[in-house]
Amino acid sequence: MSSSSLVAASDLGPVSNGPGNDPTPTPSTTSTPKSRGRGSRRHAVPVEVPRTEDIESSTTGSNAGFHFHLKPREVKADLDRFVIQQDEAKKVLSVALCDHFQHVRMTREGLKAPFYTKQNVLLLGPTGVGKTHLIRSAAELIGVPFVKADATKFSETGYVGGDVEDLVRDLIRRTGGDVATAEHGIIYLDEIDKIAGRDSGGRDVSGKGVQTNLLKLMEDADVAVVSPNDIMGQVQAVMPRPGQPPRTPGETINTRHILFIVSGAFAGLPGIIRRRLTTAAGVIPPDTDESLMDQAMTADFISFGFEPEFIGRLPVRVACRPLAEKDLFDVMRRSESSLLRQYERAFGAYGITVKWRADGLRRIAHLAAAEGTGARGLMTVCERVLRDFKFELPSTSVDEFAVTRELVEDPKATLAVLLKKTGRR
Ligand SMILES: Nc1ncnc2c1ncn2[C@@H]1O[C@H](COP(=O)(O)OP(=O)(O)OP(=O)(O)O)[C@@H](O)[C@H]1O
Ligand SMILES: [Mg+2]
Repeated sequence: MSSSSLVAASDLGPVSNGPGNDPTPTPSTTSTPKSRGRGSRRHAVPVEVPRTEDIESSTTGSNAGFHFHLKPREVKADLDRFVIQQDEAKKVLSVALCDHFQHVRMTREGLKAPFYTKQNVLLLGPTGVGKTHLIRSAAELIGVPFVKADATKFSETGYVGGDVEDLVRDLIRRTGGDVATAEHGIIYLDEIDKIAGRDSGGRDVSGKGVQTNLLKLMEDADVAVVSPNDIMGQVQAVMPRPGQPPRTPGETINTRHILFIVSGAFAGLPGIIRRRLTTAAGVIPPDTDESLMDQAMTADFISFGFEPEFIGRLPVRVACRPLAEKDLFDVMRRSESSLLRQYERAFGAYGITVKWRADGLRRIAHLAAAEGTGARGLMTVCERVLRDFKFELPSTSVDEFAVTRELVEDPKATLAVLLKKTGRR
């Protein structure tokens, strides 16, 4: 093996947009924004993304201190650094987030928008292709109160009044008790497909109850700042808090300006869409699930088990695409959140440097694609391949090894050779 083909993952070239992503050329310089929550993320796109200290939340309810300068292109450029492919979803999300902020800004400036309809977002697509990752990355960027929960949480033990409202109260907690800022936050509900009604292969009947309660929140509801069931919370609420006035008993938070983003894999949906298209005269349905997903209509979601009122409150819908083998390669090589960093850290803790060879990564991507679980398959394969290395190498004098195609294909043999060469400490 030539040493020139050996590269540490961090040296695998500049982090750039993956194929299919924004074609903007990657500059050779990088900058480190002093952003809140983003740590030392590198900017690999020639778009100046405002620092998140510019995105502040007012504690007064006025617009003082609340600035949001990002434009959709800039939000997407930032997402490109972490999420490979999913261009359409990135665009849709960028627009929805910016719209949300512009609306919030104008509201805080006193401009009324009596007929404003929220653009709640539904993100669908197969498992492990970046739905949750996308929203997490966006949440870090925008720096507003953000709450994530699994919709399954509300149906496992049957719906108990107040549960979904706790999402809103969680937003207040995130702001340190600032109700005015929490009123402009974002609630993200994952695994939303699991609260579809039983008839269509969804989770159970209690899902319908959850949908009913959620749809009230999604529109315009007043939620008690302290849960009526939370006796301890009631007592704490009226106690003096440093620098803040005590809560008024019965204080509520309004959900009119809270943006909802929901996502789910919707495994049975392509079949429903195919049936609808087949029964419609003269229509030959597309072959692939992803092309079918693109044609999803409200009626399909209703057949899947959603209440019309619920799905109707999610007007912005976008499907994430499956990740092909080359995309999985890019997830490892180009995404700043690549799992390779995790392995480098784990081995680095014992003074061992991992060098990732392109042929090794290609082989991992190939095996991961066969798993059929999107980018999650990468972790499955890496764990299987590197398990014994993680166990053995810390007790040896090995301080460097390369993940090659040979290693991926026969980890035990490669490890044996390595151990023979170096011996134990
Ligand atoms: N498009 C992508 N680009 C970069 N990394 C990705 C991408 N898709 C997935 N990953 C990686 O795989 C992990 C799992 O992805 P994620 O949690 O977003 O899946 P999901 O689409 O929400 O799947 P599920 O429907 O099973 O919840 C992420 O934490 C991320 O590290
Ligand atoms: Mg997910």
